Parts: sequence; structure tokens; C-alpha cells
Amino acid sequence: MAGIDRRSVLAGGLALPAVAAARAAVPADAEGEAYWRSIAAEYGPPEGVVQLENGNWGMMPRPVLQAYQAMVARVNRDTSFYARRGMTRDLIAARDQAAAAMGVKPQELAFTRNATEALETLILGYNRLRPGDTVLYADLDYDSMQDCMESLRGRRGVQVVRIALPEPASHETLIQAYAEAIAANPRLRLILLTHLSHRTGLVLPVREIAALARAKGIDVIVDAAHSWCQLDFDLADLDCDFVGVNGHKWLGAPLGVGFLHIREGALDRMDRHPANPATGRDDISSRVHLGTYDFAASLTVPAALAFQQAIGSRRRADRLSALRNRWVAAARRVAGIEVLTPDDSRLHGGITSFRVKGLTDVAANMRIAQHLLERHRIFTVHRDGIAGGACVRVTPALFTRPEDVDRLARALPDIVSSARRG
Ligand SMILES: Cc1ncc(COP(=O)(O)O)c(C=O)c1O
Repeated sequence: MAGIDRRSVLAGGLALPAVAAARAAVPADAEGEAYWRSIAAEYGPPEGVVQLENGNWGMMPRPVLQAYQAMVARVNRDTSFYARRGMTRDLIAARDQAAAAMGVKPQELAFTRNATEALETLILGYNRLRPGDTVLYADLDYDSMQDCMESLRGRRGVQVVRIALPEPASHETLIQAYAEAIAANPRLRLILLTHLSHRTGLVLPVREIAALARAKGIDVIVDAAHSWCQLDFDLADLDCDFVGVNGHKWLGAPLGVGFLHIREGALDRMDRHPANPATGRDDISSRVHLGTYDFAASLTVPAALAFQQAIGSRRRADRLSALRNRWVAAARRVAGIEVLTPDDSRLHGGITSFRVKGLTDVAANMRIAQHLLERHRIFTVHRDGIAGGACVRVTPALFTRPEDVDRLARALPDIVSSARRG
């Protein structure tokens, strides 16, 4: 059969030559701008606008896009001839590589189509709740996850408690907020924790909060949609039983890639998916049911991993933080700008949000994002749903240049005065 052979698929298909070329171009001062220019050259961001809204989903770098296109062509050409003769083996190999990259066992990871599917599986499938128990989430959690938690009222007959996280937050006040909620709710059984908030970029001390919860017999579900591959950590570092992740944000995999992580020993706390017969295998694959989907997207994961691993997770996280710190340092000197995300390096990655002091309504923040785009050619997005009020989110990517974030910093005084004028 013509096309990409299994070995090249597992190695990242068409990705490797290009990644190797990018690596070969790395100068001795690998942390320098020349290195990041070589990485940026693998992306093709839009021209004429500074793209600082990279939180919705991530751009695939060119080698990953090429691997995906080749895989789409193969799946389309060979259809069942591939599906019934090796595709499952290749999907398992791709899953195993992702598990190794996350620091979890292969049997603890399953593909999903996005983080929503993984987290919905966990929230709705968690079977230890009894009527009268309590579940808890926070204002910064993702809207559809909040809705899934709220749905447990009717599905499981539980009380649902929502807390507002402190603003400004500190490592201690965040842990304190959850410690107080745990103390105030003796029947608390389940907590949703968003590792890195899509609203403000705030990073929760998940490991510490989960330890407090575990001591009281409370389970934790972690939304790691924005943290994996933005921060430098392994899922194992979180020491949590249930995690939902996607691959199309910071891993740079094609749209339609997610992961469900259930730690060994925790499987029986999750219902089987009804489409998987009770007599079937009792492993993680029985907790989710994808049907026929974009197999080429999952099969491109090795290419995305190869690209990211060539950079390295420490170096990647440091770069994103450095870009963030560069504009935030300038923003903190602009009268009238309030940066919502703390500077404590444990509490942020690349994403950070700001607002013009006192302007907490959604419409004002939409206008600020609009003004940044129209007047300064900088693309950002407003975010709402935060107890302290709406804001503007700034999300750099690996192709973002220091001069891009400097342009944002220079625009901020004008943003303050135009926002105040209304
Ligand atoms: C914090 C958070 N959780 C979950 C999701 C849902 O991810 P997906 O789009 O992969 O379903 C998002 C998406 O933006 C998110 O930001």
C-alpha cells in the first residue's frame, strides 16, 4: 500500500525532516531570539495584525500541518483498508506516545475529540455522588464545565456550590479559598479545578488543593485544557485521578484532539459509557465512545509531540512566560491599567488578562479589544464571567515576537484614555 508507512507515522510522518531542520538552525545561544525566529518560521500567522489571541485553539506548525494533510489523504484514500489493517495499532501507538509525554501509563489515557468531551465524561460519569452530597466549582471554570456541574443537581440530586476565587489572588489565598469551602461543606464529594483559567490565565495550585480534598475523601476533576504544553508539568505532577486535556490548543495538534486521563484504581468511580456493553472490556476505553471521527487528527499527535519535544517543555514555558512578563512589566507602570494575573511564577503561564481600572462591564471590555484591533492592529479578546468583572485576555504563541508584545505595551496608555472617554 502506498502512502505513509507505520514507522514514519509513529515518528511524526512528514514532521521529522522539518523539525530536524529547525533544530539544525538552532544557534549555540539556543535561548536567543535567533532560535525563536527559527521556530516562528515554522508557523504562518496572519499578516497585518499582531495575533495575541492564541487561546481559542493553537496554530499547527508547518510540519504538523503537513503530517496531518498526508494523514487525511491516507485515511481518505485507504479508508477501511487502513482502518481494518493497522489503524487501530497506529492509534494505540499515538495514544502511548501521548501518555509517555504526559507522564502517565498508557492504560490511563484515551483519545477524545476535545477537552469538553473528556471533562463531560468525567463530570457526568462520576458515580460516587448520593442525593444530598455537595459538588463545587469556581467562577473561573470554563462555562460548559460549570453547566455540566450545575446539571448534577437534577442528575444526581446534589447541592451545587459555586465560589469566587480571590482577585488579586496569591498562592496562599487560592488554597485558603478551597480550604474554607471544604470546611464549610461537610458533604462535599467532588470539586472541579481548572488548572489554568481561560478567563485570566490564573494557575491554580492543583496539587495542594487536591491533597486537601483527598484528606477529606473528596475527588477532584482537573480541567487541563489550557495548561498542558503551556506550562512545564506532567499530568502525574498534579497527583489527581481525573483529568481532561485537549491537543488542539498548546500541543499544536489538529483540531479535534482531546485526552481523557483516569488514574489506575479510579476507573470504578466512573460509569461506563452506555454505548459500551457491560460485558466488554473494563478499561478506560469503555468510559468514552467516539464512534467514527477524524482519525487523521489523532494519528497526527506523534508529529505534534515531535515538534514540541524538539523545543522542550521547560524552554517553551519559559518563552511564553517571558513574553507575558515583558508586556505585563510595562503595563504595571501604566496608570489606570489593572493586571488581573499575579506575577508569582507559580500562578501564570503565557496567558494574562487586564482591564482598565473600574471598567468591569462586558461592553467596555469588548470596546477595548475592538479599539486594540482597529487602532493598533492587535488582536485580543474580551472575557467575562469573572466575579471581579470582565477583562481583556492576551495570549501569545510560540511565533509571537518581543516586538509584538512591546506594541501592546505601547498601546496601553491610549487604551486607558480612549476607554475612559467611552
Ligand atoms: C479552560 C477550558 N476548559 C475546557 C475547554 C474546552 O476545550 P475544547 O474546546 O477542547 O473542548 C476550553 C476551551 O477553550 C477551556 O479554555
